[in-house]
Amino acid sequence: MSKWVQGTVVGRRRWTDRLHSLQVAAPEVTFVAGQFGRLALPAPPGSKEEMVGRPYSFVNAPDSAPHEFYFVTVPEGPLSPRLATLVPGEPVWLLRTANGFFSVGELPEAELLWCLSTGTGLGPFLSILRTPEPWARFRRIVLVHAVRHGDELSYGDVIAGIAAARPGAFTFVPMVSREPHPGALAGRIPDAIREGRLEFRAGLALAAETSHVMLCGNPAMVDDTQKALAERGMRRHRRREPGHVTVETYW
Ligand SMILES: Cc1cc2nc3c(=O)[nH]c(=O)nc-3n(C[C@H](O)[C@H](O)[C@H](O)COP(=O)(O)OP(=O)(O)OC[C@H]3O[C@@H](n4cnc5c(N)ncnc54)[C@H](O)[C@@H]3O)c2cc1C
Ligand SMILES: NC(=O)c1ccc[n+]([C@@H]2O[C@H](COP(=O)([O-])OP(=O)(O)OC[C@H]3O[C@@H](n4cnc5c(N)ncnc54)[C@H](OP(=O)(O)O)[C@@H]3O)[C@@H](O)[C@H]2O)c1
Repeated sequence: MSKWVQGTVVGRRRWTDRLHSLQVAAPEVTFVAGQFGRLALPAPPGSKEEMVGRPYSFVNAPDSAPHEFYFVTVPEGPLSPRLATLVPGEPVWLLRTANGFFSVGELPEAELLWCLSTGTGLGPFLSILRTPEPWARFRRIVLVHAVRHGDELSYGDVIAGIAAARPGAFTFVPMVSREPHPGALAGRIPDAIREGRLEFRAGLALAAETSHVMLCGNPAMVDDTQKALAERGMRRHRRREPGHVTVETYW
């Protein structure tokens, strides 16, 4: 039996020329919030592999259908530009099982959870924050979405829904690095941490004694933010050596 499950595109949303969301009906595919699945399309003729597949984080909550994926097209990439052309009714293939340890069940006890993302790294946090678990585990949750331009601040409707459902427990901090944007912090996440601007905006202290930090997106952001957090005595969390920082990199 092929390892691939055939799903059907049932919806898509175009946020900018390069940012898209794809909704896929594939009821046999299951996951834990924060995990990633694999999307695939048939490989071009003459390829060694039958399919071209890549990992993508689930954006929907595990108990809601259809599945949703938020992605950026990499113009020279073999899969993402093709995904962006799919329309409702067309097939796309998925792995039956999801992967990854970027989920609330893997986190140690803490009072505050900081969810820091760049670009499409927002996706797994939307899945996590639409489940009850993090709200039962953490007193306050801060979500940061850092992008280059204001029009890349996607999913405002979902984020507003989370805020409405969790009064007093949730803070959203948009960041825009390459232009001034009303209501957004300027610059990059590590600088905003070092300069105290992120804590000031959230009204909370980012400290090893109280906080756990999840980082998702650009690997350079993940590296640089870990350095800024290390200056506060926060180190990588591992199952065998509990720490304060959990990471997922996209390339
Ligand atoms: C665990 C995991 C989860 C992922 N989840 C997502 C997701 O939810 N959404 C998503 O858009 N991508 C995600 N990715 C990246 C995704 O798997 C693909 O690499 C990406 O869509 C490009 O695919 P491609 O075949 O067109 O090009 P590839 O050959 O895969 O990539 C070419 C180059 O594009 C750049 N790149 C890849 N992904 C991104 C990205 N997301 N943002 C900016 N630059 C990128 C890198 O420089 C990479 O070397 C994830 C990757 C991993 C490892
Ligand atoms: N967004 C576009 O308009 C655009 C256009 C053409 C091609 N691309 C390509 O598409 C890919 C994805 O672009 P993207 O804009 O979605 O994601 P991105 O390049 O990861 O940018 C998202 C955010 O992450 C920040 N960032 C980058 N490096 C960082 C670091 N070391 N530490 C902390 N923050 C960091 C960026 O700040 P800075 O702005 O300061 O870098 C930006 O605010 C990239 O490979 C890019 O080359 C993007």
